[in-house]
Amino acid sequence: MTLHTTPDDELDDDLAVRRPAAAGESSRASRQWWDRNADEYQDEHGAFLGDDRFTWCPEGLDEADAQLLGPTAALRGLAVLEIGAGAAQCSRWLAGRGARPVALDISHRQLQHSRRIDEQRGTARIPVVQADAAVLPFADASFDLACSAYGAVPFSADTAKLMREVHRVLRPGGRWVFSVTHPIRWAFSDEPGIEGLTASASYFDRTPYVEQDVTGRASYVEHHRTLGDRVRELVGAGFTLLDLVEPEWPARLTSTWGGWSPLRGRHIPGTAIFVTQRG
Ligand SMILES: C[S@@+](CC[C@H](N)C(=O)[O-])C[C@H]1O[C@@H](n2cnc3c(N)ncnc32)[C@H](O)[C@@H]1O
Repeated sequence: MTLHTTPDDELDDDLAVRRPAAAGESSRASRQWWDRNADEYQDEHGAFLGDDRFTWCPEGLDEADAQLLGPTAALRGLAVLEIGAGAAQCSRWLAGRGARPVALDISHRQLQHSRRIDEQRGTARIPVVQADAAVLPFADASFDLACSAYGAVPFSADTAKLMREVHRVLRPGGRWVFSVTHPIRWAFSDEPGIEGLTASASYFDRTPYVEQDVTGRASYVEHHRTLGDRVRELVGAGFTLLDLVEPEWPARLTSTWGGWSPLRGRHIPGTAIFVTQRG
């Protein structure tokens, strides 16, 4: 399983394996991988993401249409934490609706792209924070909403802890909405073509996907949870599940994003969006 689509030139010889990866190793690998690859990621996907568009997934579902954070008109004045924000495109959309976003990411280079976009547009800087989502550097009940479009959750070893952290920094009644690779995709090879339609691995195998060098040092890690695991982590942290959105591939969308393609999108879900609320 991999969310990244750009070859890492420095680490061409890295081997993809399934093996355990603890929290420290996962965080270090993510920080270094995204620092090295932020430029390519923004080059490759920046046009699709849009500088101030809030899109949840490669299927192109926009918050403007889906309103998973609640009615757009009600966002004005709300404090919103975007987790794994990358270049903060979603935060910029939220700021445009009158919300007060903070964009958090583990990668300094990703956050520099947020600055670059703000400077190119000549608009107010989106506040950014470099931190690991599993240890949020905010006081309890600091935010009205939290969101994440494929940020942090797929890369964190201890997502039960991450959910508890988001719960802690949210005010009662606040929504936590995040998108991840649909868990069923872990049973399939990660190819956009027909070979990606054959189940070749166990959906139930939670062993992380790791790319590592010849010494065994991880350069990239993703973690798998089944749908049931995610629900249990959310409920255990104190969230109520309001909806589980599985965006369908729109007929108008012809582009591919790594293993996400029109062909696969017609057959199996590619994204799961969890819409939850703090009790
Ligand atoms: C696939 S990108 C998504 C970025 C952005 N949300 C978007 O849609 O373009 C994943 C992001 O999560 C960040 N990330 C990975 N692990 C993280 C962690 N433990 N804490 C915070 N951010 C993390 C990466 O640095 C990267 O910017």
